[in-house]
Amino acid sequence: KKGSYDHYMQKEIHEQPHSLTTTMRGRLKDGGVLLGGLKEHLKTIRRCRRVVFIGCGTSYNAALAARPFVEELTGIPVTMEVASDLLDRQGPIYREDTAVFVSQSGETADTLLALDYALENGALCVGITNTVGSTLSRKTHCGVHINAGCEIGVASTKAYTSQIVAMAMMALAVGSDQISTQTRRDAIISGLTSLPSNVSEVLKLDVEMKELASSLIDSESLLVFGRGYNYATALEGALKVKEVALMHSEGMLAGEMKHGPLALVDENLPIIVIATRDACFSKQQSVIQQLLSRRGRLIVMCSKGDASAVCPSGSCRVIEVPEIADCLQPVINIIPLQLLAYHLTVLRGFDVDQPRNLAKSVTTQ
Ligand code: UD1
Ligand code: F6R
Repeated sequence: KKGSYDHYMQKEIHEQPHSLTTTMRGRLKDGGVLLGGLKEHLKTIRRCRRVVFIGCGTSYNAALAARPFVEELTGIPVTMEVASDLLDRQGPIYREDTAVFVSQSGETADTLLALDYALENGALCVGITNTVGSTLSRKTHCGVHINAGCEIGVASTKAYTSQIVAMAMMALAVGSDQISTQTRRDAIISGLTSLPSNVSEVLKLDVEMKELASSLIDSESLLVFGRGYNYATALEGALKVKEVALMHSEGMLAGEMKHGPLALVDENLPIIVIATRDACFSKQQSVIQQLLSRRGRLIVMCSKGDASAVCPSGSCRVIEVPEIADCLQPVINIIPLQLLAYHLTVLRGFDVDQPRNLAKSVTTQ
């Protein structure tokens, strides 16, 4: 079933042009979005006071990637909850809330307990899951199956990108009654249509990412700085590196750099800075300058053709990726980091598909 691939994680990374296509199949119609599972509930969602995203691990990160465009396209405030933390705090959930549960397996214990809690509190509960017939799919009021196909590697890869796309379609559907954002919605839909071919394009960085991995093989730690649409990319890239390559890695909000993390910067610690084109681009340019002036060892991810704009001195390693509608850029940007985590793991001699101490589905608290 791995076909020509050595590992499931590798297969699932390279499968993404296809899995994203199946996530969107039959759902982009006549220039709009049709989600059968949400159709009857769109009015209720539009009226809600707040959207609360709830998940764990990679699924939480996918929701974090979706947050900016859900806010933008729906005008509804979005808050984020790690499922276990919501339960620990018994945080407030109201009848007027739409609680969106994100889970690849649909069986994660913390997420399901948070679902019970939100149901008790009377919120509208929406599921985003890859598993038809899962507990999450059955217990939520409505939802979207992401249809990414079975994911076997313990490290979630193709489910992450399909979750983001499913939430993009959800945001488009909920916001579809707003005339003022029609042009923006059209641009995002056209971005979705071209997403699979752009993903195929970025997968060609495989060899480059293997080279980069070999230069990082003996590092003790790796930082990833992102902001805006790509804050989630930083967290998710770092999560992949720590869980499979067993290397310490942290994703950080670039805007917080000066408030502590800057103290870590020296000529040895590798730092990935995500600086693709969007409204935060010039802020990321200045972050890069500040890191370079402290002799930081930088790897910069930028849009194609931007190498000299992000690193005029030529002293950074640059990863150039195809540019797409800004809010969909996280789908492209995570892929080189998935490839990096994969190659780093193989080169360091660890088990890719069964990382130490981890299980695919965490069904106990
Ligand atoms: C559905 C069919 C699909 C068919 C399509 C044709 C299923 C599972 N899906 O897809 O095979 O090709 O119609 O129009 O039979 N749901 C939840 N919670 C979740 C996820 C989903 O309650 O977490 C509910 C939805 O609200 C919906 C149902 O499950 O009622 C199916 O969801 P989904 O597969 O996303 O719907 P369609 O895309 O319409
Ligand atoms: C990371 C990973 C975990 C899961 C988390 C939630 O690669 O696989 O962080 O994302 O355990 O799992 P689901 O999405 O099944 O609820």
